[in-house]
Amino acid sequence: MSHSNAWGNPSKAGVAEALQMAAFLEERSRVPDAAVLNRRLCEMVAAKPGEHLLEVGTGSGILCRLLASSVWGAGVVVGLDISLEMCTQARGYSRAEGVSHGVAFHTAAAEFLPYRDNCFDGALAARTLLHVADPDTVVRELVRVVRPGGRIVTMDWDFETVTVDHPDRELTRRLLHWRNDRRGGNNWSGRQLWRHLKDAGLLNLTVEPCVIIAHTETEGLTQSLWRAAQGALDGGAISQAEHDGWVNRLKGCIEEGTFFASIVYFIVQGSVAGQREMAV
Ligand SMILES: C[S@@+](CC[C@H](N)C(=O)[O-])C[C@H]1O[C@@H](n2cnc3c(N)ncnc32)[C@H](O)[C@@H]1O
Repeated sequence: MSHSNAWGNPSKAGVAEALQMAAFLEERSRVPDAAVLNRRLCEMVAAKPGEHLLEVGTGSGILCRLLASSVWGAGVVVGLDISLEMCTQARGYSRAEGVSHGVAFHTAAAEFLPYRDNCFDGALAARTLLHVADPDTVVRELVRVVRPGGRIVTMDWDFETVTVDHPDRELTRRLLHWRNDRRGGNNWSGRQLWRHLKDAGLLNLTVEPCVIIAHTETEGLTQSLWRAAQGALDGGAISQAEHDGWVNRLKGCIEEGTFFASIVYFIVQGSVAGQREMAV
């Protein structure tokens, strides 16, 4: 399903917009559900001292900063992004947090990585493959630059797994389906990651579904729902009255303590075939 998506290259939206998008990523990283996911991702990457790791689609560089202390010594986490502004902001956020060793940021497209074969111990694509036109090409590039035996970790949500406890089922479905099919990239990417990694010949694949539950206003998922409602209104899928009724009902549930929403993210990882496996 293709539609316009500023996350495919924030720089194309303009400098001011790209800077705002970097600030959005920073803010989102602080909400409780995003923090839980980022911690789990870092556990799965399992960075070790001296390793060279690559994150494609690094955005404001949050994951690189989280991983940097684990590769201490001669190690480095390289954050790559198609947007020059994102990389500039990522360097700035790193400096501001005092993370000056163990990270580097490069501007390039994940489809054409500017690195030689087998030069990383592992690679990560988090909340990125849903924004690229051809994820198979990106995964093949990750396989090329990661050494045999190294790991590739990917994570995306599947927006069609969203549940919201709202009495109006028809309106809820209409609004969520509009968001799913028209906004923010390929919202089925989560369920497709396993296939991309399998097609790229990765071994020992594992899939971890991470269920995020929201009960309050502060979760990133709750904020996504408000944006989904606004998007469906702007796109003409729901009326102003439907928008206001839907959002106000859920805000009432938040106040009463009865709000429930959820979404599934999939973390899929595999290892690059070594010489022995390739010869079989
Ligand atoms: C939603 S952000 C995710 C940022 C970060 N990985 C995180 O989880 O916080 C997606 C990022 O991917 C970048 N991106 C999109 N398409 C890309 C491509 N083809 N090559 C490199 N980066 C890309 C965007 O510029 C954006 O910064």
